[in-house]
Amino acid sequence: MRLSLWLGLSLSAALARAAPYKGCQHKVKESIYGPPRGWVKQSPAPPNHIIELKIALPQPNFSVLEQHLWEVSDPDHERYGDHLSKEETDALMAPHQDSVDAVNEWLASHGFAEEHLIRSSAKDWVTIRVPVSLAEEMLDTTYHVYHHAETGDSVVRTTSYSLPEILHEHVDLIQPTTMFARFKAFKSTLHWAGADSSTSTPSSGTITGPAGNQVDASCNNTITLTCLRQLYNAVGYQTSATNGNKFGLTGYLGQYANIDDLQMFFQDQNPAAYGSNFTFVSVHGGINNQSIAAAGVEADLDTQFGFGLTYPTPGTFYSTYGEPPYIPDALETTNTNEPYSYWLDYVLSMSDLPQAISTSYGDDEQTVPYSYAVRACNGFAALGARGVSILFSSGDYGVGDGDPDPATQQCFTNDGRNVTAFIPEFPASCPYVTSVGGLVNIPETAVFFSGGGFSNYFARPSYQDTAVQGYLDKLAPGTYEGLYNPNGRGIPDVSAQAYDFLIVYQGEEGYVAGTSCSSPTFASFISMLNDARIDAGLPTLGFLNPFLYSTGYTALNDITEGNNPGCGTEGFNATIGWDPITGFGSPNFEKLKELVLAV
Ligand SMILES: *[C@@H]1O[C@H](CO)[C@@H](O)[C@H](O)[C@H]1NC(C)=O
Ligand SMILES: *[C@@H]1O[C@H](CO)[C@@H](O)[C@H](O)[C@H]1NC(C)=O
Ligand SMILES: *[C@@H]1O[C@H](CO)[C@@H](O)[C@H](O)[C@H]1NC(C)=O
Ligand SMILES: *[C@@H]1O[C@H](CO)[C@@H](O)[C@H](O)[C@H]1NC(C)=O
Ligand SMILES: *[C@@H]1O[C@H](CO)[C@@H](O)[C@H](O)[C@H]1NC(C)=O
Ligand SMILES: *[C@@H]1O[C@H](CO)[C@@H](O)[C@H](O)[C@H]1NC(C)=O
Repeated sequence: MRLSLWLGLSLSAALARAAPYKGCQHKVKESIYGPPRGWVKQSPAPPNHIIELKIALPQPNFSVLEQHLWEVSDPDHERYGDHLSKEETDALMAPHQDSVDAVNEWLASHGFAEEHLIRSSAKDWVTIRVPVSLAEEMLDTTYHVYHHAETGDSVVRTTSYSLPEILHEHVDLIQPTTMFARFKAFKSTLHWAGADSSTSTPSSGTITGPAGNQVDASCNNTITLTCLRQLYNAVGYQTSATNGNKFGLTGYLGQYANIDDLQMFFQDQNPAAYGSNFTFVSVHGGINNQSIAAAGVEADLDTQFGFGLTYPTPGTFYSTYGEPPYIPDALETTNTNEPYSYWLDYVLSMSDLPQAISTSYGDDEQTVPYSYAVRACNGFAALGARGVSILFSSGDYGVGDGDPDPATQQCFTNDGRNVTAFIPEFPASCPYVTSVGGLVNIPETAVFFSGGGFSNYFARPSYQDTAVQGYLDKLAPGTYEGLYNPNGRGIPDVSAQAYDFLIVYQGEEGYVAGTSCSSPTFASFISMLNDARIDAGLPTLGFLNPFLYSTGYTALNDITEGNNPGCGTEGFNATIGWDPITGFGSPNFEKLKELVLAV
């Protein structure tokens, strides 16, 4: 399968040479066939360019952590809601002392003492700052500058790296080496208010929403906070500012949440929230530049809708540093374009976390090395075990790759076979997160760009067996054979509106679309459910999927219309029950609240 090809060792590159570590020979640890489509190898990397190498030590007790996760997330289990503490998840993610010792010894042989090392809270990641020349010696590799013509981005990477043979069992992965991910925000069009005249719906009066109640007719072409409360049956529900519930949003790639935009939005759409603010948290040097020119559409959208829907629940906005393009000549210290591990290191080191966190970013799964995807996914599992609901956008390219126009999508595999295949998105494909697809219109239908399909990295988790097999059984025999992995984790789990969200951006009103709209929306209703659970003296929902797939789905609005074209196909169809474009559908808050107060 694809996976083995990805990690297949390149034997010719493994030709051993003498290494300075205990006379032990280097052996290829990880190699990729070549850089993903679009990246072109240029000059050798400048030897004194500094890179921050992250070394992942194995987590031998992760399966124990996973077992805890299933138990505390399963509404039928006696331990439901009995979430783990930071100390408990740290202990279960910790490496074996032998691995710590082996890696320490190797690092010491290259001149690193303890004070040069940055360790994660569980000690499962070690970070060092090294010039390219030393990294090349340590990893027996050669770094090059790779350039992405379409975007102008450059990165310093390699396609293969080696480690002394005796270290292999003590190291899961080292990055940045082979990772060429092009992490992106899942928001697409921004067009100005008034520009949308494509619909025939009257802007006054009411129409019937998915919960059977009346919704302002204007919601069929302009989504506001009021619309979402109406559509998802939460009109009048009041959250608490002080019961301990909190809501989190993440920002990456220099996306800054502008506070003036937020206040103007509140004035328009939730006057009670006007004057309120969120807590800004800087991760790995992330900033929140308040210059109006620095406001980011993605960050403005997330904070306006997320904090607007959940107000007065205290909000946290995490800004993680890490932004392509990297300029090869400047001796920049950070050229990661895959900042999850920094965010995970940060939040996993905190004792007190928001109980629901939404992220609207992702990458094509195949551009994230398998070993890295597994480790990031394990970090999300740890958050779930701690009682945090983690939601991700499912992506904006239907079944296809990062090209927003389904007609020109290429959808080639990166594994050397270069064959056409559907391209799922990560982290939406991680089985320990809840992925959120996109909808449009009333009655709600799948929006064409809603990311969906099946993971090539992660097997279908057992909580999905009935739902996903039910869908696969409905497909005509042979449908899309070879284009997707029928045994993979199905994406998404749920969905919400994702089109024509009215935001304030750089002082003006505009419309945005994307699963970047649906993830903070769905997550906001989850945060409101947590609020209700806390008030009732119950623990928060934590990892949602075992609940959603066992009973939660009965309180979601099933979406049965629409499809998600891509890769030269019509994509998958929305159907009765779960489908790989809308999951189980959109929330009915009152119904969900009844359910979650009963489990
Ligand atoms: C991890 O696993 C080992 C071996 O199975 C066991 O001895 C140890 O107690 C476990 N650690 C924790 C924190 O559960
Ligand atoms: C909502 O808009 C869509 C697309 O224009 C239209 O097909 C549908 O009939 C509208 N819904 C209602 C209830 O008017
Ligand atoms: C909002 O919070 C940010 C940082 O958390 C602070 O810099 C800013 O001054 C606050 N703005 C208002 C209007 O309170
Ligand atoms: C903030 O953004 C503005 C406008 O893009 C830019 O000129 C300024 O240098 C930025 N400030 C910082 C501290 O990055
Ligand atoms: C993959 O195949 C397509 C179509 O045959 C071709 O255009 C493209 O250059 C190939 N890419 C690689 C990396 O071989
Ligand atoms: C989607 O539905 C259309 C119309 O019923 C049908 O022709 C097509 O085969 C379906 N596609 C899939 C992938 O099920």
